[in-house]
Amino acid sequence: MNCSKSTVLRAAARAAASAAGPAPARRSIFTATAAASSSSACTAARFTRPAAARAAPTVTQKRFVQTLDFGGSKETVWERSDFPKEKLAKIFANDTFAVLGYGTQGYAQSLNLRDNGLKVIVGVRKGGHSWEAAKKDGWVEGKTLFTIEEAADKGTVLMYLLSDAGQKQGWNTIKPYVKKGKTLYFSHGFSIVFHEQTGVVPPKDVDVILAAPKGSGATVRSLFLEGRGINSSVAIYQDASGQARERAFAMGVAIGSGYLYETTFEKEVHSDLVGERGILMGAIQGAFAAQYDVLRAKGHSPSEAYNETVEEATQSLYPLIAKNGMDWMYANCSTTARRGALDWAPKFYSATKPVFEELYARVEDGSETARSLEENSRPDYRERLEEELREIRESEMWRAGKTVRGLRPENQK
Ligand SMILES: NC(=O)c1ccc[n+]([C@@H]2O[C@H](COP(=O)([O-])OP(=O)(O)OC[C@H]3O[C@@H](n4cnc5c(N)ncnc54)[C@H](OP(=O)(O)O)[C@@H]3O)[C@@H](O)[C@H]2O)c1
Repeated sequence: MNCSKSTVLRAAARAAASAAGPAPARRSIFTATAAASSSSACTAARFTRPAAARAAPTVTQKRFVQTLDFGGSKETVWERSDFPKEKLAKIFANDTFAVLGYGTQGYAQSLNLRDNGLKVIVGVRKGGHSWEAAKKDGWVEGKTLFTIEEAADKGTVLMYLLSDAGQKQGWNTIKPYVKKGKTLYFSHGFSIVFHEQTGVVPPKDVDVILAAPKGSGATVRSLFLEGRGINSSVAIYQDASGQARERAFAMGVAIGSGYLYETTFEKEVHSDLVGERGILMGAIQGAFAAQYDVLRAKGHSPSEAYNETVEEATQSLYPLIAKNGMDWMYANCSTTARRGALDWAPKFYSATKPVFEELYARVEDGSETARSLEENSRPDYRERLEEELREIRESEMWRAGKTVRGLRPENQK
């Protein structure tokens, strides 16, 4: 895209200057969390964990939940400031959080809960990758680190954070510990909504709730440590105690969220599966590759094709769109770029909408979850995955990308 860079820079500087103006009397609900939204699908992030745990940020209760206008629709949102640490301590005074699974979410949520002063134990398979990772993070065998069964027995809030395929495989082991008065917690609607495929059907006398961070566990942790918070959705599937709703929102904050919006288990899983297959990862890789291949077929160098497809998008335009919105982006690029983008956006809309409709239908009818369970339950799923990732990594476009990234001044020693 041929945006005038000086125009963009000047406008960005103006936006930054106006954002730095006098502090508003009351904090906008968006300021603390606007940058927090990201893919809900990144699992590789455990390798980029923030190194050290710091003290949890102090949060003072400012006010109660508010209803805001989201593009013309009114929605109620909850914020971290609605549940300061003292309030969390009261709500969960008699609870032990048993975090079952220590992938990227188990890691982040358990540490954030612990730093929020709550009683937390971790349950994972002994000797596995997660067992070692949990020990490295300070969980102590026999005190705060247990097998899945032991932790499920001791916990009052069972946080079912195994992989979604693992939740199906582990359900018969967990089920005897899901007893009256306990809370069963998820970060995805998958197992419950597609219970015909997973077999996960909780007893009626437990609360069943969900808090689903809209981003990788690494971001859940790093934003928390920065005193910010990820955006998460919250849902209640069963309210046996009559307190499930308050406890669900409180948990959303306790695990490190900045703001929370309400959904249902069904809507959460449908939107999440569409998002990660669509614009968050699947569609973007497909569209990047299609444009790159057309440019290459027309004789453009890999360097040019990559810069016009990925680098300019991720380094310049997407951060500006995240910060200021698409109308601002259109208003702050060259007149040539603006005219073309305005003309071509409807064509891309028409071309991709049927694909998104097909995707939603496959999510809704359970085809996508069935495929995910089948593929991710194979004993050799890691090897098969690595083969697919190797193909992407070794494609010309992403090899060119590696060279381009290496040329960024900050990546040169
Ligand atoms: N990843 C995200 O960014 C994200 C975002 C929002 C919500 N969620 C949801 O959060 C939940 C957890 O996801 P995650 O990404 O943190 O975890 P994950 O990487 O998908 O799962 C890893 C954990 O599951 C355990 N596990 C897998 N199969 C198992 C089995 N058969 N028996 C026992 N343990 C098993 C692993 O233990 P071992 O190390 O011993 O194999 C590990 O502790 C899922 O419901 C996911 O959809 C994820």
